[in-house]
Amino acid sequence: MRYVSLGDVPAKRHTQVRDGESGDLLVEEVMGYEGFSGNESILYHLRSPCDVMEVGSFEPVALEEWIPDAHVHRLTQTSGLGAAGDPIFGRRVLMFNNDVEMAICKPVEEFDGFYRNGEGDEVVFVHEGSGVFETIFGSLPYGQHDYVVIPRGTTYRVKCDDGPQTWLTFHTPGGIETPNRYRNRYGQLLEHAPFSQRDFHPPASLKTHRDRGAFELVVRVRRGFQRFVLDYHPFDVVGWDGYVYPYSFNIHDFEPKSGRLHQPPTVHQTFQGPNFVICSFCPRNLDWDPLAVPIPYHHSNLQSEEVIYYVDGQFGSRAGVGAGALTLHPSGLPHGPQPGRVEASLGSTRTDELAVMCDTFAPLRLTALARELDDPRYALSWHAGAQAPV
Ligand SMILES: [Fe+2]
Repeated sequence: MRYVSLGDVPAKRHTQVRDGESGDLLVEEVMGYEGFSGNESILYHLRSPCDVMEVGSFEPVALEEWIPDAHVHRLTQTSGLGAAGDPIFGRRVLMFNNDVEMAICKPVEEFDGFYRNGEGDEVVFVHEGSGVFETIFGSLPYGQHDYVVIPRGTTYRVKCDDGPQTWLTFHTPGGIETPNRYRNRYGQLLEHAPFSQRDFHPPASLKTHRDRGAFELVVRVRRGFQRFVLDYHPFDVVGWDGYVYPYSFNIHDFEPKSGRLHQPPTVHQTFQGPNFVICSFCPRNLDWDPLAVPIPYHHSNLQSEEVIYYVDGQFGSRAGVGAGALTLHPSGLPHGPQPGRVEASLGSTRTDELAVMCDTFAPLRLTALARELDDPRYALSWHAGAQAPV
């Protein structure tokens, strides 16, 4: 990330600074990772961020696990899932392990409060929809095919525009970062990176709220939701600066890489987290050698699980998957193109596929929702004569 400053910050850290309206001393908050050794931002509040008027309930995160009878490749059809809930509690988890949780969210209601994830970073991939993430760091507009990355500790709420919203969301107790190999020792993105600093958009504007009243704040901590009530609007920041802030990145700003022969999924990597990666499969020219096979070779994910969420276009190596479908190729089983796909791909010069992939090193566990949306025909779709998923 790059250094960003919004609003008013004093010339020196840890000095007296007063609110221009009331003359009161502002409250400085350092928000940082890895103790005081990681990236940080410094925020200047009208009030102490510790100030709560009421302590409300604590509700554990409820995940109903599905332990399937069979270990097979799985196809989860989310396109028929109805819209429900709000942008926070409407996230319906499909898969999870100790490193990452993946959920579908199709919000139709507004969450009448403020939310802060106190135990994880979040990524929201916006399949469809637009609106604004209103955050303590300022307003971050979002639109179709944006990744919105929200660092832990960010108080926010979402204002959705009218129309359908479909999000693929990630929660991780680790940090979301661009891949190490694309950054130099100073943190700047290198020339061979598939994106540049210009493609990452911090909040566009900061508005300081001075309203008093009753404001609900829900904080995700210790695998649960702790509720508080504040007597002041939580977006009371008059200025901040640093390297920690929410940002958006549109998948179409990812510069895809092709080769004379087929490139591994690694070239599509967009983000890294602890024991997992997030990759973007974007429209691109395909491999140009006359003998190239322009779709993936069979591979065994000996130590990883592969989840692909199909967003748009035709995915060359898969039959029977469309927008909103999600495949899971678990560890222990090889996978590859389905029968006829290699032959059909020969001579192709371009793909219009758009998909988001998440590979995890540790096995993924499934939820009851994954059972509900499971298409059992997928496991047999490599077998000649099998009925393909539709
Ligand atoms: Fe794969």
